[in-house]
Amino acid sequence: MTMSMPTRRTIITGTGHYVPPRIVTNQDLEKLMDTSDEWIRERSGIRERHHVDGGVGTSDLAIEASRRAMAAAGVEPSSIDFVIAATLSPDHYFPGIGVLVQAKLGLGTTGALDVRNQCSGFLYALSAADQYIRAGTYKRILLVAAEVQSTNLDFSDKGRDMSVLFGDGAGAVILEPGTEDDGRGILSTHLYADGNFISDLWMEKPCPADNPTFQKAFFDEGRFFPRMEGRRVFVNACQRMPEAIRAGLEQNGLAIEDIDALIPHQANDRISLMVAKGLKIPVEKVIRNIDRFGNTTAASIPIALDEAVRSGRIKRGDLVALTAFGSGYTWASAFIRW
Ligand code: UT7
Repeated sequence: MTMSMPTRRTIITGTGHYVPPRIVTNQDLEKLMDTSDEWIRERSGIRERHHVDGGVGTSDLAIEASRRAMAAAGVEPSSIDFVIAATLSPDHYFPGIGVLVQAKLGLGTTGALDVRNQCSGFLYALSAADQYIRAGTYKRILLVAAEVQSTNLDFSDKGRDMSVLFGDGAGAVILEPGTEDDGRGILSTHLYADGNFISDLWMEKPCPADNPTFQKAFFDEGRFFPRMEGRRVFVNACQRMPEAIRAGLEQNGLAIEDIDALIPHQANDRISLMVAKGLKIPVEKVIRNIDRFGNTTAASIPIALDEAVRSGRIKRGDLVALTAFGSGYTWASAFIRW
């Protein structure tokens, strides 16, 4: 008789998030630029977001979220054998924040990988972590996604389409091999990209093809600020996230009705509602917290996941679907049996 090997999947054993304490309301932004609380709420669903105070970097937020995820998992930093960090706003042009997280946690010479996939960064990183765990390469990975965006937004009228949307924050998860053949764990990840659309959402400068890279003229023209073709990004986000979810459902032989919780990247509440409508999933199953955080890019999904887990909205055995879309374009989905 042949014994079939049980499927050992990657499980998330702890989640955590952290946002800087300073809350910036829509009314606060009204004082800086020609905008209104009503416009921001109606067009995006955002009421407030968190901004760092001076001297606080992305890796500082990442550390706080990481400590909370490790505490939730009941593990010590010294037991982490690999770090993956996702951000579009690293503390420095180089190196990325992975090594800063690694050093601040006192992880000796533990390896640290940086992922640069913007709003899809968490899901790209999750997919990489899943491969490492299932291959047996690492046994306990800290995956953290963090952003400090508020310090490089244009708070003049010219930048109002972007600066009202984005916030600062961090989310983290601990990943380990499952010990029981109980069906729990990451079921699938699907990753997509189309680099023909980089200029729809990007920070064009600094660009090393310019010599010298940093030019005052670019600064004066506002080209060191991120810019977005909002309507085009909106339309693509509404199409691509449902596609990625359907790909995951198909691979896993599941139906929309099987999903207990859907966490779309929190880019705009109207997009989340359109994704729900496109998939014909009841809106009650969609996790939405953009009203309190704005768009925290790579951190948005792990922040929402942590809130949902801690509040009991996601429970053991639930089917959790994650999806993201953003700059690149990149987009992705992941399915997890919690
Ligand atoms: O995380 C990565 C993915 N990001 C996204 O998915 C974001 C996708 N895009 C969006 O969420 C939306 O396109 C926005 C929220 C950025 C904009 O909403 P919209 O309904 O597409 O508005 P719009 O860009 O078409 O602008 C409508 C009007 C314009 O005025 P005119 O030209 O009609 O006179 C804008 O100038 O709203 C104006 N506007 C604002 N008004 C007040 C743009 N930003 C603001 C603002 N306050 N902050």
